[in-house]
Amino acid sequence: MAEIVYLNGNFIPKNEAFVSPEDRGFNFADGIYEVIKYYGGKPFRYADHMDRLRRSLREISIDFDDLNQFEVVFQTLLEQNGLANQEAGVYLQISRGSHTRIHQFPENIKPTVYATVFPFSSKWDQLENGVKVITTEDIRWLRCDIKSISLLPNVLAAEKAHVQNAVEAIFIRNGIVTEGSHSSFMAVKNGVVYTHPDSNLILPGITKIVIREICRENNIRLIEEGILAAELVNMDEMMVIGTGSEVTPVVQMDDMMVGNGHPGSVTLLLQDKFFEKNQSSGVK
Ligand SMILES: Cc1ncc(COP(=O)(O)O)c(C=O)c1O
Repeated sequence: MAEIVYLNGNFIPKNEAFVSPEDRGFNFADGIYEVIKYYGGKPFRYADHMDRLRRSLREISIDFDDLNQFEVVFQTLLEQNGLANQEAGVYLQISRGSHTRIHQFPENIKPTVYATVFPFSSKWDQLENGVKVITTEDIRWLRCDIKSISLLPNVLAAEKAHVQNAVEAIFIRNGIVTEGSHSSFMAVKNGVVYTHPDSNLILPGITKIVIREICRENNIRLIEEGILAAELVNMDEMMVIGTGSEVTPVVQMDDMMVGNGHPGSVTLLLQDKFFEKNQSSGVK
């Protein structure tokens, strides 16, 4: 069965989906994206993802407000690709559109809208046993709060992790831990959870919103304050969280064992509650 994608209003086979070489996404990475996970056919935190999408569009002044169409677009894609009622991901990308290459915003340009779906199973081996991460300098720009398709520093960091048999690279900027190349980062000390506050230096993670709620509901103290890289060695537990990472324990960072080298109890509790939420969900 040919994979069906959505491009500019049409559902078409992927091998027939073409974007102009003058698309500004291609030339300038002038665009933004979202990734949403569906559990049992239902989107998890759909409204939060749409809020972030709206914000990303606004922050780079892409004039596109017809976001209501997407719920049906995604559902159609899932059905046409045989992915309804299972764990699946939606990737949505909106670029400023296609135009002769000029740097400033062209006039009368129509955004390019592309969406695709894919199987997106939880990685139970990693969720249960934990993973290795590396640390690396945060060389990204100063608007990491925008979910921009300009991901070269993230790609370079992820590759650096990959060649060291790690699943994620954790960025450090000026001695402070910011986030992962494709996840948010949290650490635990004496039962208190620490994570970088939302700012221009990190992406406001949707999973982080969920963890905030879980902490509140379970009387777990969460402090949103930059963690000093120098303090990492003293942390009892670490985790990477995100739409794909879900709540993945970190058991090794660079050459250092985290805690006792096994997933920590706070991490596992948060993981448990996270899955309770998306099982019971359809949560929008
Ligand atoms: C850089 C970065 N930070 C954090 C996250 C986590 O965000 P979310 O929980 O919305 O998936 C992601 C994406 O997964 C990301 O790419």
